[in-house]
Amino acid sequence: MSSATTNIESVLHEERVFPPPAEFSERAHVGSMEELEALRREARESPEAFWGRMAEGELHWFRKWDAVLKWEPPHAEWFVGGRINISYNCLDRHLQTWRRNKAAIIWEGEPGEQRTLTYGQLHREVARFANVLKRAGVERGDRVALYMPLIPELAIAMLACARVGAPHSVIFGGFAAQAIIDRVNDAGCKLVVTADGGFRRGSEVRLKDTVDEALKQTPSVKGCIVVQRTGSRVSMEAGRDYWWHEVIQTVADECPAEELDSEHPLYILYTSGTTGKPKGILHTTAGYLLQAHLTTKWVFDLREEDVYWCTADIGWVTGHSYVVYGPLSNGATVLMYEGAPNYPEPDRFWDIIQRHRVNVFYTAPTAIRAFIKWGEHWPLRHDLSSLRLLGTVGEPINPEAWMWYREIIGKAKCPIVDTWWQTETGAILISPLPGATPTKPGSATRPLPGVEAAVMSKTGQEAGPNEGGYLVIKRPWPSMLRTIWGDDERYRKQYWSEIDGVYFAGDGARQDEDGYFWIMGRVDDVINVSGHRLGTMEVESALVSHEAVAEAAVVGRPDELKGQGIVAFVTLEGERRATDELKEELRRHVAREIGALARPDEIRFADALPKTRSGKIMRRLLREIASSGGAVRGDTTTLEDFSVLERLRVQEEE
Ligand code: PRX
Repeated sequence: MSSATTNIESVLHEERVFPPPAEFSERAHVGSMEELEALRREARESPEAFWGRMAEGELHWFRKWDAVLKWEPPHAEWFVGGRINISYNCLDRHLQTWRRNKAAIIWEGEPGEQRTLTYGQLHREVARFANVLKRAGVERGDRVALYMPLIPELAIAMLACARVGAPHSVIFGGFAAQAIIDRVNDAGCKLVVTADGGFRRGSEVRLKDTVDEALKQTPSVKGCIVVQRTGSRVSMEAGRDYWWHEVIQTVADECPAEELDSEHPLYILYTSGTTGKPKGILHTTAGYLLQAHLTTKWVFDLREEDVYWCTADIGWVTGHSYVVYGPLSNGATVLMYEGAPNYPEPDRFWDIIQRHRVNVFYTAPTAIRAFIKWGEHWPLRHDLSSLRLLGTVGEPINPEAWMWYREIIGKAKCPIVDTWWQTETGAILISPLPGATPTKPGSATRPLPGVEAAVMSKTGQEAGPNEGGYLVIKRPWPSMLRTIWGDDERYRKQYWSEIDGVYFAGDGARQDEDGYFWIMGRVDDVINVSGHRLGTMEVESALVSHEAVAEAAVVGRPDELKGQGIVAFVTLEGERRATDELKEELRRHVAREIGALARPDEIRFADALPKTRSGKIMRRLLREIASSGGAVRGDTTTLEDFSVLERLRVQEEE
């Protein structure tokens, strides 16, 4: 099970197999293995003709493309010469059908209020906000930052940006001012859209205050538009800040969608990498839309009458592709919920499913583990019989959590789609199709048609069955990232240089004897906390920015709920004393610098950090120490003594 070339070992053995229920397959878009294999074959034999056929059949074009793909490794252009608009595809095209009066978004705020927007209404709101953007001086190509709670205005702002061709950069509402500053400056955003605040677990998150702090250090920003969400008092700077509800009154509700080039930038979304600051992942228009659209249709097997709910925040890629663009392009009814799963009680999600008769439910393993911990009496209290399909994303799901999801939520009748993908891939690449693929608990099963995934050693040799290695993609795909904003060199290095000629995903994996993929997690210094990627470097930088800290090394350790928890080893400046108070202060400091998500679970003080002779921190050893639990909790101020590791240094270096 392990391989001498990769040292990646997989210990998971899972024998259970669940074929798709016959009544599900009967009505599915792809209803059998034969059909799925036929699509795979078509795509393998003639990829460009396959993607061309899909693009023609599924999307609206102002002008058809001249060539499906221009591939000059590692740069791809898809549907070259085509003209298209995503906002048109998500809205206008539905207005010519009965969907005009279909619910596009059913929104529920955490305090319980509800709003429904039909496609016709959403179209009007998007057109108005697009006119607001234009009036604010936003032109095709200008970047707009969106720092908002999960409210319909966030989707409206994204679609309005797409309508005028202004790439958006959504910044997760849980991030702190410094994270906004870094992202806004990196992309040179001209405008920020925010809200007074949002609700999370019963309290207000004051977003505008954070924006005010950030905007002191963002010279490119010329204006700020503020949605009134909570109604609490915020400061408005004259000449810079405008209320959303006021400015939309001053514009027309018609705004034709710009005819954009297929490769026109759609959005930048920042995600964590191994080193340095977060990377601005750039997605463009046509290829991204095609794959977000197709995967939504296939993987979630959308039916016209479905209520579809993806619980992700729009601040992450899952929200981009599977709350906004994929479902709306398909004309689906999307449920959006603003708040926490355990407010006011741990059954909020089940209550929502029952009241809105949700049919398709897509969430993260970390949430499922929390549900298990809170107890099955919460879901059992509710009628979940509307559910017909369940999905997961964000991290490997352990088979026991998968089985609980199947039995307790899905009543053993709903197929589960475990979907593997990344911010960089734009859309789901490896996943079952619920009407076709037999599933195994814990496996994302096999690549979708048109996706050539493999497991390789660092030297580019394909691994044998059950041999661990690195997950790679061998051919370009339409929704792949185009570059890292402002740093094409890093793009080449990070994704296309680790193994010659293929896309390097950064995940360890194995394929079993049926060709099923089992993802084993990250192979780099990225920590996956509750399905969200954090670079160890980011947390380390935040720690050393505190005046008491000399050096810091951050590693992940297994965490029952969050997948991974954060442990920080810290050495202190000069005379600073290691105290429990300082630990707390450092944890708070990281939360302030990056956001609560990055708050270390544990701080451990050390005399010095164990390093190789070349100065590299011996993370593998720290990971082991962190995972094995080391010192007793409570007696936490003791200094770590790493001198015993001295003799291991040479070994680590090899
Ligand atoms: O390690 C993999 C894990 O999440 C990483 C991508 O994180 P991010 O870009 O934030 O996107 C998350 C949502 C797409 C991957 O490199 N990951 C994602 N989905 C799965 C997964 N690991 C195992 N199984 C999955 N289904």
